[in-house]
Amino acid sequence: MIQAKGLTKIYGTRYALRGVDLEAEAGEILGVFGPNGAGKSTLVRILAGQAKPSSGSVTLCGHPLATEAAQARACTGVVGHLTYLYDDLTAVENLRFFARMFGLHLKEPELLERLSRVGLRGREHEPVRHFSRGMQQRLALARATLHNPRVLILDEPYTGLDRQASLFLDNLVRDFAREGGTVLLVTHDVDHGLNIATRVLLLVSGRVVDQGPADAFSAQTIVTAYETGRKVPQA
Ligand SMILES: Nc1ncnc2c1ncn2[C@@H]1O[C@H](COP(=O)(O)OP(=O)(O)OP(=O)(O)O)[C@@H](O)[C@H]1O
Ligand SMILES: [Mg+2]
Repeated sequence: MIQAKGLTKIYGTRYALRGVDLEAEAGEILGVFGPNGAGKSTLVRILAGQAKPSSGSVTLCGHPLATEAAQARACTGVVGHLTYLYDDLTAVENLRFFARMFGLHLKEPELLERLSRVGLRGREHEPVRHFSRGMQQRLALARATLHNPRVLILDEPYTGLDRQASLFLDNLVRDFAREGGTVLLVTHDVDHGLNIATRVLLLVSGRVVDQGPADAFSAQTIVTAYETGRKVPQA
């Protein structure tokens, strides 16, 4: 579902990514970990089609991003550092706006159903500026999944969420994967991320230093790899 080969991104003279290869299949939750500046958000932006790699290629749901961008993006939902919501519009107005932008013909009851899926029913007619950070994050998720994507890419989605909201997000992510979706999840919350991920990818200084099934990792091996920039041999 997600395939990246030899992704390199150079900003001026700085390498943000150096030959990243990754693959995630249907039903997988790929947890991407790495210290600040490792290249995680750069990777997310490239997969989302928001930035072009200096070299390498991305395929989403079988569509090469370079040549079939519209199809690749149509199968992908992204929640990045920004929510892209309009503060002055209500929750339902935001969804209506983005549905139209995606060329989707969703009627009012369908939009309300999407809001109830993310636990925002009852707040649909309030402007987003009245929403707490967690509520905005929920609405951002509803926005990112309006077109029923098969791939979901989340960059630090737990930031600012309380316990209840993060459990809620966990359930949403697990259901999405259980129904055959593929999730790529970037997080600094190693314990939490390890708990939900089915596979792990460790990125340090733009390189993949380790990857494998989540049960082959512990929070400690991930943190040590962060610090040393190297794969930690398993005991
Ligand atoms: N638009 C840009 N212009 C120049 N350099 C950039 C740009 N975006 C990212 N970089 C550089 O690329 C490297 C990777 O940044 P990136 O944002 O991908 O890291 P990250 O792993 O997401 O870090 P964090 O954990 O802090 O979110 C950093 O050295 C950063 O300064
Ligand atoms: Mg980042």
